Amino acid sequence: MDGTDQAQAAQADAGAWHPLDPLRPAEIAAAAEIVRGAHPDVRELRFETIELAEPRKDVVRGFVPGDPIERQARFVAYARGATGVWRGLVSLDQGRVVEETFLADAKPMISPEEFFEIELAVKADPRFQAALARRGVSDQDLVCVDPWSAGNFDVAGEAGRRIAHTFVWMRARAGDNYYAHPIEGLNGVVDIDTGEVLRIDDYYADTAPMAVPMGESNYTADMMDGFKPEPAALDVVQPNGPGFRVTGNLIEWEGFDVRVGFNGREGLVLHRLGYTENGVRRPILYRASLTEMVVPYGAPVRAHHRKNVFDIGEYGLGKLANALELGCDCLGAIHYFDAYVNDITGAPRLIKNAICLHEEDYGIGWKHWDWRTDHAEVRRMRRLVISSISTVGNYEYGSYWYLYQDGIIEFEMKATGIINTVGCEPGKPSRYGTEVSPGVEGQIHQHVFCARLDTELDGPSNRVLECDTVAMQPGPDNPYGNAFYVQERVLARESEARRKVDFDAMRYWKVQATERTNLMGKPTAYKLEATSAVRPYTHPESPSGKRGQFVYNHLWVTPFAVDERYPAGEFMNHSTGDDGLAAWTAQDRPLDGADLVLWHSFGIHHLPRPEDFPVQPCVTCGFKLHPVGFFDRNPMIDLPPKRNAASCCVGE
Ligand code: CO
Repeated sequence: MDGTDQAQAAQADAGAWHPLDPLRPAEIAAAAEIVRGAHPDVRELRFETIELAEPRKDVVRGFVPGDPIERQARFVAYARGATGVWRGLVSLDQGRVVEETFLADAKPMISPEEFFEIELAVKADPRFQAALARRGVSDQDLVCVDPWSAGNFDVAGEAGRRIAHTFVWMRARAGDNYYAHPIEGLNGVVDIDTGEVLRIDDYYADTAPMAVPMGESNYTADMMDGFKPEPAALDVVQPNGPGFRVTGNLIEWEGFDVRVGFNGREGLVLHRLGYTENGVRRPILYRASLTEMVVPYGAPVRAHHRKNVFDIGEYGLGKLANALELGCDCLGAIHYFDAYVNDITGAPRLIKNAICLHEEDYGIGWKHWDWRTDHAEVRRMRRLVISSISTVGNYEYGSYWYLYQDGIIEFEMKATGIINTVGCEPGKPSRYGTEVSPGVEGQIHQHVFCARLDTELDGPSNRVLECDTVAMQPGPDNPYGNAFYVQERVLARESEARRKVDFDAMRYWKVQATERTNLMGKPTAYKLEATSAVRPYTHPESPSGKRGQFVYNHLWVTPFAVDERYPAGEFMNHSTGDDGLAAWTAQDRPLDGADLVLWHSFGIHHLPRPEDFPVQPCVTCGFKLHPVGFFDRNPMIDLPPKRNAASCCVGE
């Protein structure tokens, strides 16, 4: 046992262990050994996924500390150099594979370890080296080849293979930001499983290549010429410690409780979010996570149409999560959770400080001044922040869940990092982009995310309503033309629950309890505010559109099914689009009063700006879940009055 294992064992002894806790490192290693043992003929078994197989909901709901719960691991493994995957379940308690299926057509995700193999394969190819020489690039060590998932574009020679499509940049010197120097129109296509370079596509094979822009645009501190004066010190100090309590993976804060989970694909997961009022715990969400995303680019030239990355389904945000830095990524009184994912050999890999937990002041929560008595009451508000940041090649995705004292649950995506750059003639960017630095173009694209919200609002059976505001026509019932009201309708079946935002109706959706009413006798509820809906521009029948159909509705609702986790399908690397939300909801299952899962698509519409380069300031998108009649009154009304003693007046 290493120190971490011991600490976890001690927690288990203390009753902190819970059946939704992610796999411990020893469990990941044991699962890999068991799967390997079941495939003695495979020379090199590789692992896409080893993660907790979550126990059934009734088992989890009924769990009390000390209950014996069988630990199971879910795995996806494949033989290096062969096609198809084994997907199955390992019983860690029984030490054997208890379920396994071979899926001949499934293509595993691209593992971080394979990024390097792909780059090395392209750089070693004589055709690639000749194309570089034709561009006057002599120092191979300065050349960077980024692997991209290749999609499903029906290109001769690619069918049936698991491939990467690559784009190329170079550094001006060691340590320089290579995204400032795109080597345009040069793409290697690699069979990831065999290492074979299928093609080197050189769009300038017969003409003079586009010049590589060599102006430097750097961002690392050691490459900067100077800095602005340092802003005044701003410390977040909690002299008596933070306001949250952590026991194992359970967080308790200001009435809320939630368990953090983590896996290689989704990264951060929230389990069993609830709120305790008058000593009674009320469930809200059984599970919430970001389950898919796609970044379609808008340029149809020189292979850029192939950029439609599904960073969760094709790479995995969890596997690419950062080890966060105290005082840099995270400010204040911080609690970190470490995470473990499997590497390609099935060994556990530690991501230190993968999840950050802290509190933030959020300004005033409510105020009223009685002008007759000159008496003011004001309460400040704070929020709890649970976050994780992943780096996918050039881009960073920061996933931030916020809980507020007024009961709001918010998800915010902070997109930062370096935009994907392409070459252009200086001063003449294409219509599909913006010149962000002379000769460097950032192309128009979108980031469309899909959150999976498995609700249990005051119980397992829920109902979803669409709420539109109606403006009445002037007439006898509306003599002054001012009348408007909210009209609600139940989304009773899956076919009725494929919905889009409607600004003209000020539309929102409401999740209602079927087993509880509030003081006014109405079903308790939360509403989903789709604050970042985006209109997709990729044609639905295009090669990319077919694979990412979740983007064409902002809301989908399904009855819970254990295998329905990924809105574009589980095996979505090179997918056809046959699996996922569009296929599942074609069953048109009834929803009213079922155990429901809401799927919300949202995102960022992004025409890059010069200000996005060389590193983009965080751009945000997300959604909010507001209590609407969940509470009987303002849940912050009984916050104690408080004057912050550390505040002071300046400049007098
Ligand atoms: Co962007």
